[in-house]
Amino acid sequence: MWSLRAAGATLCVLGLTAFTNGLYYIDDQDSSITYNSSAGVGYNKKWLKYSHENSNLLAVSVNETFLFDKTASYTQCYPSDHCSITIPFNGTGITLYVAQDIGDIYNTTISLDNGPATNHFAYNDIKAQVEAYNATLYDIQGLNWTTHTVRVELDPSGSRLLFDYAAVAGDQPPGRNGAAAAAAASLLAVAPVLVLLGVSFW
Ligand SMILES: *[C@@H]1O[C@H](CO)[C@@H](O)[C@H](O)[C@H]1NC(C)=O
Ligand SMILES: *[C@@H]1O[C@H](CO)[C@@H](O)[C@H](O)[C@H]1NC(C)=O
Ligand SMILES: *[C@@H]1O[C@H](CO)[C@@H](O)[C@H](O)[C@H]1NC(C)=O
Ligand SMILES: *[C@@H]1O[C@H](CO)[C@@H](O)[C@H](O)[C@H]1NC(C)=O
Ligand SMILES: *[C@@H]1O[C@H](CO)[C@@H](O)[C@H](O)[C@H]1NC(C)=O
Ligand SMILES: *[C@@H]1O[C@H](CO)[C@@H](O)[C@H](O)[C@H]1NC(C)=O
Repeated sequence: MWSLRAAGATLCVLGLTAFTNGLYYIDDQDSSITYNSSAGVGYNKKWLKYSHENSNLLAVSVNETFLFDKTASYTQCYPSDHCSITIPFNGTGITLYVAQDIGDIYNTTISLDNGPATNHFAYNDIKAQVEAYNATLYDIQGLNWTTHTVRVELDPSGSRLLFDYAAVAGDQPPGRNGAAAAAAASLLAVAPVLVLLGVSFW
């Protein structure tokens, strides 16, 4: 029985690994995200929840239908506005997605875990003549499994940004949409194998 018990234990570990290596999404409206700015008066400088109704006041126009969870966060920053987004996550990688109007350039500096900031921009070529959704602003994978923080700052000489969502290779915090479903699926995947092996832990 020792070998079967060992096999059972191994399967349990594999099951947990499969769960913790999942992919999950953080919507721009998620409470774990911190948006900072000098919060000036008016539509520029402040972070706003994008909507088609206020798009005539903004410098971008996209269709909410194609946004993740139908929402995105917008700002247009000038020097000294200190516009930034800070996103903590548990896992081994993160990809940041933006939505862009025709011809938009978003120019940012991004740092991970307070490391050096590097320049990252997303450009939706005006020649394409279509809005862009799911455009990648930043992607990093293969990190150590731990809690990380990614921080996006807008180009100090001025930029706008319409941030849509992040995809994380990692561990969805408990209590969020999808976490329970993922855990249940993982248990369902492991249990039948244990039954097939006739594994009993005692
Ligand atoms: C947030 O913005 C304020 C300006 O309103 C700035 O003084 C502060 O340093 C910023 N904080 C962070 C964490 O960027
Ligand atoms: C957004 O896209 C949907 C689906 O294609 C379309 O029905 C709707 O009219 C579009 N809205 C605008 C404001 O263009
Ligand atoms: C963007 O990616 C998400 C997640 O993969 C997907 O559900 C959605 O359909 C994509 N949106 C568009 C407009 O392609
Ligand atoms: C990371 O995991 C820890 C321990 O489970 C949890 O307390 C924390 O809220 C998680 N943080 C994020 C950003 O998911
Ligand atoms: C982004 O901003 C930096 C610093 O101002 C500048 O050197 C760079 O050319 C800009 N990149 C784009 C694509 O506009
Ligand atoms: C990742 O973890 C390994 C083993 O603990 C460690 O040697 C390495 O320095 C870590 N890398 C980073 C970037 O923290």
